[in-house]
Amino acid sequence: MQKTLIIIKPDAVQRRLTGGIIKRFEDKGFQILGLKMTCIPESLARQHYSVHKGKDFYEPLIRYMTSGPVVLMVLKGKNAIEVTRKMMGTTFGADAQPGTIRGDYALSNRFNLIHGSDSESTAEKEIKTFFTVTELVEYEAMDLSWIYDTSTGTIV
Ligand code: RTP
Ligand code: MG
Repeated sequence: MQKTLIIIKPDAVQRRLTGGIIKRFEDKGFQILGLKMTCIPESLARQHYSVHKGKDFYEPLIRYMTSGPVVLMVLKGKNAIEVTRKMMGTTFGADAQPGTIRGDYALSNRFNLIHGSDSESTAEKEIKTFFTVTELVEYEAMDLSWIYDTSTGTIV
């Protein structure tokens, strides 16, 4: 089972899309291990998107990510990183496939509603950056054997 960090970005919060976005992930079968609303400090936004430092959209991206509250979430499930990014859709709203979060609700190249970790190593780093150990709750999901076939001893 994989874990990933999701950020519901300031535009999604302001547009009251938070609940609808969380619902999509819950409906898919992902388990929420952590959830909180906060404002990302500028230094943390710079660190989080440091891979884009020097690109022409870096400064506007930092302004965007610090422009209002965000909702941070840790999700757990099979192939969580790839599946949540598929559900988010491609980066630019106007290009994103209908049926995805960005494809259904975004048009902008930048105001694209949501972030999801893009690899296991970034997920691990991002989860540690945004959540303390006590803010993450590991609990047994009672419906696990209906989300997956667990009858053979492995999760299928
Ligand atoms: P994210 O990191 O937020 O999950 O998004 P992503 O992987 O789909 O896209 P990435 O290339 O990592 O870009 C990070 C965020 O920067 C903004 N952006 N603006 N050309 C532009 O104006 C431009 N390109 C990217 C978007 O908010 C994007 O999600
Ligand atoms: Mg990215």
